[in-house]
Amino acid sequence: MKIKNICCIGAGYVGGPTMAVIAKQCPNIKVTIVDINEERIAAWNSKNLDNLPIFEPGLAEIIEETRGKNLFFSTEVNKAIDEAEMIFISVNTPTKTYGKGKGMAADLKYIELCARQIAKVAKQDKIVVEKSTLPVRTASAIKSILDNVGNGVNFQILSNPEFLAEGTAIQDLLSPDRVLIGGDTSTKEGEIAIQALIEIYSNWVPKERILTTNVWSSELSKLTANAFLAQRVSSINAMSEICEKTGADIREVSKAIGMDSRIGSKFLNASVGFGGSCFQKDILNLVYIAKSYGLNEVADYWEQVIIMNDYQKNRFSDNIVSTLYNTVSGKKITFLGWAFKKDTNDTRESAAIKVADNLLNEQAKIAVYDPKVVEERIFADLDDLKTRPLEENKSLLTVESDPYLACKNSHAIAILTEWDEFKNYNWEKIYSNMQKPAFIFDGRGILNKKELEDIGFTFYKIGSGK
Ligand code: NAD
Ligand code: UGA
Repeated sequence: MKIKNICCIGAGYVGGPTMAVIAKQCPNIKVTIVDINEERIAAWNSKNLDNLPIFEPGLAEIIEETRGKNLFFSTEVNKAIDEAEMIFISVNTPTKTYGKGKGMAADLKYIELCARQIAKVAKQDKIVVEKSTLPVRTASAIKSILDNVGNGVNFQILSNPEFLAEGTAIQDLLSPDRVLIGGDTSTKEGEIAIQALIEIYSNWVPKERILTTNVWSSELSKLTANAFLAQRVSSINAMSEICEKTGADIREVSKAIGMDSRIGSKFLNASVGFGGSCFQKDILNLVYIAKSYGLNEVADYWEQVIIMNDYQKNRFSDNIVSTLYNTVSGKKITFLGWAFKKDTNDTRESAAIKVADNLLNEQAKIAVYDPKVVEERIFADLDDLKTRPLEENKSLLTVESDPYLACKNSHAIAILTEWDEFKNYNWEKIYSNMQKPAFIFDGRGILNKKELEDIGFTFYKIGSGK
């Protein structure tokens, strides 16, 4: 079966880049991305490519190449479902904020709404692809809705989780380590559906990197991958504190252990804590699944990854307060970076939010500079915490568009995101305009300790012993 028409429901960080790359690599397939968020669709359609809703290196170029040719953004969800042979569901699956499983389980209401809408609209057989990250066995719920609500047409469900990381999404999509497809190999229709999706990816992904499994393994592999990745960060962050106490250096330790091919060198950067929309949400989801099967030891094991991460964020702000003579009240502290990692404007679960909240509780005055994050987003992030009224956040925190201005008259600078540009600042100039003693708290370990100490800074680097 040759797919000619694809619909993707959800024009977010996954739907947008993923489908843009499919459109680029498969010029003969029409790809329509739909969303109920009109503003987001309008932004995807904006003439000025600087106004796309998502910043990803290389994305704007692909949008320019494909949009209006075989890539379309629309709010007409029903029309796109009707026309497509294959429908990707790429909507958000946040942590539940109410009811049973509150604060842990994945909220599947958006997924269910999509399934019901597909069932209602579809008049021909469809292949439905789970792109969103879902609890293991969600496909059976989707299938049940499709079969019971639908018009008697045949639905095949595939699981095709996405492994892209923000900031490198385009590179990850163009050259993935693997593409995972879970499907029902016990039926002819299931096999045909799997082959149809394999054929799409085969346009640019080598066959040996396309892996097929049963649906449950595919769903669970996605949660497992994120849990393992996050666990590596929490493990190295746990060691970073031992380094600080003992005089070891976490970067030397990372290098030494990373050269063991069984451990590998990637994802061993100590930090102020991992952020992003998925690690915490997916581990909590995993913990919830384990608990729901009565596997309490398994649940506790994975929960520790989150506990360690929360500890790392709090430890960072506590250290700022204690180093600044146990009071930051009324003192200006500059945040360089607000995004959860470099090369993205995404701030979801960014460590900067928690660190800022802690310091605002101590009545610090915070000035934030981030090359890509806009002011509204920063205040919205703080507002979401509901710690204090918006007016109070606005009176304590300012957002600057010039890093040198952000650092002026500051008592301390905290590096929250590892943006490359921070390494190349004129640190002598920054030092001369700061209060003395001038402190830097490098939560990403990107600056050169000796150089900054030679200038006169009192310098703390995460994971670096005295
Ligand atoms: P997102 O919030 O950026 O985008 C989701 C979009 O879906 C939103 O624009 C929303 O308006 C839309 N939507 C929700 N319900 C809808 C409906 N019924 N009809 C039409 N549109 C609807 O989320 P995201 O970051 O793209 O993540 C999507 C999924 O992919 C999640 O399950 C996430 O865990 C997973 N994932 C995310 C990443 C990542 O890097 N962000 C990577 C891999 C997997
Ligand atoms: C992560 C995974 O890497 C993707 O494979 C997955 O598809 C995605 O989650 C998802 O499911 O959403 P992402 O969150 O975009 O991608 O970015 P990462 O590069 O994984 O970074 C996550 C967080 O960990 C960031 O805050 C980053 O700064 C931090 N991190 C990462 C460290 O602190 N140290 C490291 O060594 C690596």
